[in-house]
Amino acid sequence: MILGIESTAHTFGCGVCHERTLLSNIMDTFKPPVGGIRPSDAAEHHAQVAAKVVTEALETAGTSASELDAVAYARGPGLGPCLAAGLVTARTLAIRHGIPLVPVNHCIAHIEVGRLACDIDDPVTLYVSGGNTQVIAYEEHRYRVFGETLDIPIGNLFDQFCRYGGLPHPGGPAVERMAREAAEAGADLIELPYVVKGMDLSYSGILSDIKRRLADGADMKALCMAVQEVSFAMLTEVTERAMAHTQKQDALLVGGVAANKRLFEMVATMAHERGGDAYVVPREYAGDNGTMIALVGEQMYETGIKEGIEESFTTQRFRTDEVDVTWIGDSS
Ligand code: ATP
Ligand code: FE2
Repeated sequence: MILGIESTAHTFGCGVCHERTLLSNIMDTFKPPVGGIRPSDAAEHHAQVAAKVVTEALETAGTSASELDAVAYARGPGLGPCLAAGLVTARTLAIRHGIPLVPVNHCIAHIEVGRLACDIDDPVTLYVSGGNTQVIAYEEHRYRVFGETLDIPIGNLFDQFCRYGGLPHPGGPAVERMAREAAEAGADLIELPYVVKGMDLSYSGILSDIKRRLADGADMKALCMAVQEVSFAMLTEVTERAMAHTQKQDALLVGGVAANKRLFEMVATMAHERGGDAYVVPREYAGDNGTMIALVGEQMYETGIKEGIEESFTTQRFRTDEVDVTWIGDSS
């Protein structure tokens, strides 16, 4: 029985996992009164809600802390003060109950919970969120990043665009709705910079172009449609090339932007043409959550990975491909 703690950014989450069964998923998300999140404010929020979230996660799972074999925590990547708040909680439980800690990479947790929830063995994963844009696949005990953004993440493109255009935050859902309306009204596709360099993507050119067009009075809905079509086409192209290179059949979408139906449609069409399929992580596990940390923690723990509190630490930079993936066998 493993308890997982997530605290990389705005969400403090806690979940319990036992033999790949996800027993609870409790979270409390910091919402800044105005503007973006200040790490120290989010960390203070996490410290305040930690005991409540942990207790509720144990209760919902029908267990108690004395039943736990280990506590998994998100080592990174994330905001320093937020990560520290999670680690304090994890260490407290570890000391109190005499159990080890397991350090988990946040990005890998997003992939693993998608793989489990969608029951898909070996996909090419698009990890698309406000903080990340990566095309990832498993090869020889690593999750390798085949392509990623060279500048801003795709969710951040949407959010910045919306902030500039006066739409509510987060921007993704509003962009999706307005893009659909533009498509239904038969709007013409506005041309935006399509920048794929090798296997990597660049979205900053799109952002400056749309800002200029907005200032020139361009139609917001038509712009929403264009932003989606171009940024998603770039992602789909890189994903297809990663699938061809790795000879994998299926695509898995994880992270907040994975909720977008148009993105799924484009990736699914591409995957079907290649004889494969596309999957999206269920909404419940799409955002940051402690359950995904518990899941990876359990798999790591079973392969002997654990640490004492004196070995535990967090890090703001923690690359997906740094982790030795001990829990998956050799890929074909
Ligand atoms: P991470 O820490 O993993 O980078 P995050 O902090 O960005 O995650 P998420 O909840 O994974 O949090 O993702 C939020 C992002 O998802 C926001 O940028 C938001 O605009 C975007 N988003 C949400 N719904 C949609 C949608 N329907 N279409 C496009 N983008 C969406
Ligand atoms: Fe995340």
